[in-house]
Amino acid sequence: MSKSNLLVFGATGAIGSYIIAAIVNAKDAFNRIAVFTSPNTLSTKSAEINTLREKGIEIITGDVTKKEDVVAAFKGIDTIVSALGRGVIAAQIDLLKWADESPQIKRFLPSEYGTDIEYGPASATEKPHQQKLKVRAALKETKDLKYAYVVTGPYADVPFFLAASKNPRGGAFDVREKKAVLLGDGKGRISLSACGDVGKFVVHTLTHWDQAKGRALKLNSFTATPEEILAEYEKQTGDKWTVDYTPLEQLKKFEAEAWEKGEPDATGLTLRRIWTEGGTLYDRRDNADIGAEDTVTLAEAVKESIRAQLSQ
Ligand SMILES: NC(=O)c1ccc[n+]([C@@H]2O[C@H](COP(=O)([O-])OP(=O)(O)OC[C@H]3O[C@@H](n4cnc5c(N)ncnc54)[C@H](OP(=O)(O)O)[C@@H]3O)[C@@H](O)[C@H]2O)c1
Repeated sequence: MSKSNLLVFGATGAIGSYIIAAIVNAKDAFNRIAVFTSPNTLSTKSAEINTLREKGIEIITGDVTKKEDVVAAFKGIDTIVSALGRGVIAAQIDLLKWADESPQIKRFLPSEYGTDIEYGPASATEKPHQQKLKVRAALKETKDLKYAYVVTGPYADVPFFLAASKNPRGGAFDVREKKAVLLGDGKGRISLSACGDVGKFVVHTLTHWDQAKGRALKLNSFTATPEEILAEYEKQTGDKWTVDYTPLEQLKKFEAEAWEKGEPDATGLTLRRIWTEGGTLYDRRDNADIGAEDTVTLAEAVKESIRAQLSQ
């Protein structure tokens, strides 16, 4: 396959910024790299956009919901990588239809990069999965578009799993206070991905396309229990921490209340309940299939979390 021409959506977002950084790092593997963004982002994130321009990335502006803007951006593109945020997941349904109508576009990576939305039978009714499930269903209806889903589980980095929290009922590792709130009984294994590795996983998915296409790739950096993570913090900070727990049944109560009251962390609590129930664990991880075995370790992720929390 000749080198691809990429168009990335959501490149300045929380995970998109890691994905575009990894793509830039591997730019010799690609022919053209373009980013589609909004005029608003162009002015509010001008520093990030200028850095991308300096690195040779083409910046295309438009409205992601307007066919004429998007189809104009598709010119000369064969691969779409979407890292659009949760609020615009459903907008990808039009994007992929327009991509399917554009014969030059061959590959579409939708915005996944999280919990496996088809882990088991219960996944079909999980509230946070609904929009992404519709995107997967729409992708299966396309004629000529090939896809892959980059499934990574929770992110390890601050401000995600290995972070302090103003509302630690959903779990927290607070370096300044040396306090942890562990999910479940603290002994359940969770597979996490460092954000930098998520970027690498996307690059490896594109560069190992024969192995990746048509699959939900189950990728992660490392697997550990909350107790093992805490032990690593204690080792690296040289102190015993204060520990509390949010048992699974309590987590389910917090989750139900949050949805009932329309609280902003309802989605996060559902995902944390799924992780605590074992929803990130598999018989095998797929990293080797796409040559992405060299990943961040628990010790490295904790070291980075300590650095990030203390520099805040
Ligand atoms: N595994 C985990 O722990 C975890 C954590 C967080 C997110 N995720 C997943 O990662 C993916 C990306 O999420 P994110 O948090 O990185 O996204 P985000 O930062 O909220 O948004 C990413 C980009 O989407 C575009 N966007 C967002 N809202 C928009 C709107 N209303 N209209 C038009 N464009 C909009 C923007 O692109 P422009 O500025 O270029 O227009 C934005 O930079 C999602 O699938 C999410 O579920 C996973």
